[in-house]
Amino acid sequence: MEIVIFPDAAAASRFAADVVEDLLRRRPTAVLGLATGSTPEPLYAELIRRHREDGLRFAGARTFNLDEYVGLPVDHPESYHAYMRRRLFDHVDLDPANVHIPDGLAADPAAECEAYEDAIQDAGGLDLQVLGIGSDGHIGFNEPSSSLGSRTRIKTLTPETVADNARFFDSPDEVPRHVLTMGVGTILEAREVILLAFGAGKAPAVRRAVEGPLTASCPASALQLHPRARVILDEGAAGELERAGYYRWVFENKPEWQRP
Ligand code: GLP
Repeated sequence: MEIVIFPDAAAASRFAADVVEDLLRRRPTAVLGLATGSTPEPLYAELIRRHREDGLRFAGARTFNLDEYVGLPVDHPESYHAYMRRRLFDHVDLDPANVHIPDGLAADPAAECEAYEDAIQDAGGLDLQVLGIGSDGHIGFNEPSSSLGSRTRIKTLTPETVADNARFFDSPDEVPRHVLTMGVGTILEAREVILLAFGAGKAPAVRRAVEGPLTASCPASALQLHPRARVILDEGAAGELERAGYYRWVFENKPEWQRP
């Protein structure tokens, strides 16, 4: 993996936006895998700015979100449908027909998950998957013990994730217990992956993902198997990495032609 450490989340998010922009300019019909949570908010804000000010276009792109809560109506403010509209989709020229998010209200969740996998395949696979990381090491909503070969399916959240996400709801009781999420295996098939993590609260999970053993106890560690995975951090999230100095040295000595 390539570990890239920035002074703050704003600089890290600009770098992540460079990765997305570089892909969209090379391949306007790119298939983007998108994430929710507070972490990618500055990335989406930067992409909106580049759309408005620099002519970055999304019109040909297709998007697939990682996950959705089961049981929340799409117009519930904390549904990931509503989040994505608010944070990105309503502000760029994406064609709504090219936007995909699992349907958390599907009458047959298993069939919905299978259809979601098929839709990703039909689009030609994910060119770039954007990820955050849970404090328990989850990616998407693949909680610890998730099969590293898993596909899109229904999952039950850990108490830790329910507690983490309670800040978005009026009370922890309102956080849905179940979700539909791309699997770890689905994510690993993306041609390129960027994982963003900001703040000291993420430092233990980042250390386990990057320097810990490959284990289902930390699903993000599966990215160690990915040939094009980048972990984009601020100082806080990098705070527990043993080899931070080495990662910085590698990045500083990276040939120009390998950027962004
Ligand atoms: C959420 C999402 C993940 C996200 C993670 C961290 O619940 N399902 O995709 O990466 O948990 O969230 P945050 O960025 O708010 O810390």
